[in-house]
Amino acid sequence: MCGIIGCTGVKCASKILYKGLEDLEYRGYDSAGIAVLDGGKIFSVKRRGRVSEIKSGAEKLRGTSGIGHTRWATHGRPSDENAHPHTAGAFSVVHNGIIENYAVLREELVSEGHVFSSQTDSEVVVHLLNKYYSGDLKAAVLSAVERLKGAFALCILCEGYEGFVAVKYRNPIIVGVGGDALYAASDMPALAGLAESVAVLKDGQIAFASEGKITLCDFNGGAAGLSLSPIPAAARSTRLGGFPHYMIKEINEIPAAVKNTVHAFTEEKCYAALTRAAKKRGGFKDIILCGCGTAYHSALAAAYTAEELLGIPVRAETAGEFRYKKSAANSGTLFVAVSQSGETADTVEAARAAKGAGACVAAVTNVPYSALTGVADIVVPVRAGTEVCVAATKSYCGQIAALALTVTALKGRQAYIKMLAELKDIGAKCSAAISDCMVEAAARACASSSGVYFIGRGIDYPVALEGSLKLKEVSYVPGEGYPAGELKHGTIALIDGGTLTVAVITDKTLAEKTASAIEQIYSRGGRAAVVYASGCAPENLIERAEFAIEVPASSDSISPIVSVIPLQLIAYRTAVILGRDPDKPRNLAKSVTVE
Ligand code: G6P
Repeated sequence: MCGIIGCTGVKCASKILYKGLEDLEYRGYDSAGIAVLDGGKIFSVKRRGRVSEIKSGAEKLRGTSGIGHTRWATHGRPSDENAHPHTAGAFSVVHNGIIENYAVLREELVSEGHVFSSQTDSEVVVHLLNKYYSGDLKAAVLSAVERLKGAFALCILCEGYEGFVAVKYRNPIIVGVGGDALYAASDMPALAGLAESVAVLKDGQIAFASEGKITLCDFNGGAAGLSLSPIPAAARSTRLGGFPHYMIKEINEIPAAVKNTVHAFTEEKCYAALTRAAKKRGGFKDIILCGCGTAYHSALAAAYTAEELLGIPVRAETAGEFRYKKSAANSGTLFVAVSQSGETADTVEAARAAKGAGACVAAVTNVPYSALTGVADIVVPVRAGTEVCVAATKSYCGQIAALALTVTALKGRQAYIKMLAELKDIGAKCSAAISDCMVEAAARACASSSGVYFIGRGIDYPVALEGSLKLKEVSYVPGEGYPAGELKHGTIALIDGGTLTVAVITDKTLAEKTASAIEQIYSRGGRAAVVYASGCAPENLIERAEFAIEVPASSDSISPIVSVIPLQLIAYRTAVILGRDPDKPRNLAKSVTVE
């Protein structure tokens, strides 16, 4: 995925675009670029690397209209040539998404004499625009867009047109107005502080932004109405506020994320929406929870408790797998799509597939205007606030809270009220877990290990998976998350004195079993540590552990909100000790909008 931005009617476009790209950088950071219109001509700068690489080049650009891009490579390795904008003839283009038929288009364009200068799929767009342009910009954009297959959010500059064009199909783009200036960007926070009012473009819409006015049309050229609303306060661009990194700032925001999520669930009347939907279908016959990465882990945690509580089949699936399963959902299914961004292509497409099969789709997401909410029948809000660090932390905890409320709402009022009461206390437990957590020794142990394995049983297994993902993502220390009983079936071959195994134990009834897995590790010369809920771990396990971190106990379905905190903190400190950038780990992007 990538971040794109456009502006016109500003004093100095490159200054606005550069600052916007800094806000969008979490969406991809392997190269960046800006193009501006100056005296009716296009000038650009683009470089491999972080946005800061184009700072001095951007400072030299003049002009009041421009477009910008920060890239997460899909086609073509990160390089100066593959960086956007792609400029040719009268046009310059930035693209977020994927042009699936780019190879055929490229062949056609090359045979017609167009000369390509990158290996990207995106470059075909700029050549198509030139192919169809004979002085009528709208006609050229319509003809070019008609040829594209895949997913694309575009910002386009055209010589002689003082403004920019924004196109939306399956990837997000938001347009905004602030005074006489007009803007477009991949997300709201990049527009905060610039636009006073915004509109989220719908699939198949094109915005022409010029001379203080945005005009919309659809892909057939028919006029469409623009309905602007004030930019939501929650979209405020976030700053570090004294923290050294967003990751640690966002871990500290977990109590607020959970509190706001609970508040939004009640305020947006989700209980009524869920029970109504269930009643309409004569009760749900099964539930499928779906997501990618961290969102999959919260889906898995919810599946553990939901099946027991509701007494119907409940399962969690990674979205990329679910999409291609035949007859996976039907009209009796509640399909719960979990996604921080609401943009992850695999998750959005899985939700579409489930809906197509007749399922009721609920979207559990932190972004209310996302593609996922457009697909869903019911939106279950996560109100973690803008999450900038690529590694999800506070949004995971918000998701667990939202899912626990969803599941108990389906059980009935009594269970739901009980859950609301339990969630009232969880903020204080999170605060205690954050402030009391002694992670320094733990992080040093992880940093010096050749591999770190996380194990857990029952509800602690999804937490083990998340702890492992967090550590890998931000510190690059290899390892795995395993069900505690499963480690001995193969992976135990990797255990030696260089590896560390961290057991997560928050369920007293399963503690002894996990303790035996640890014994097996000691017997093979391995090292072990434990993260446990008060009163849940056997004393001898705590005494022998390389480190033992205690967190306040809470009920099963919401225990991951608290038990994940030490694992997030350990991952963060390990990354810092190893000199990694925890906010922008290599090779990653915050959400992936291509399949
Ligand atoms: C990417 C990120 C992960 C994230 C996943 C799902 O792979 O690197 O950290 O968990 O996308 O993102 P979503 O926005 O759908 O929750």
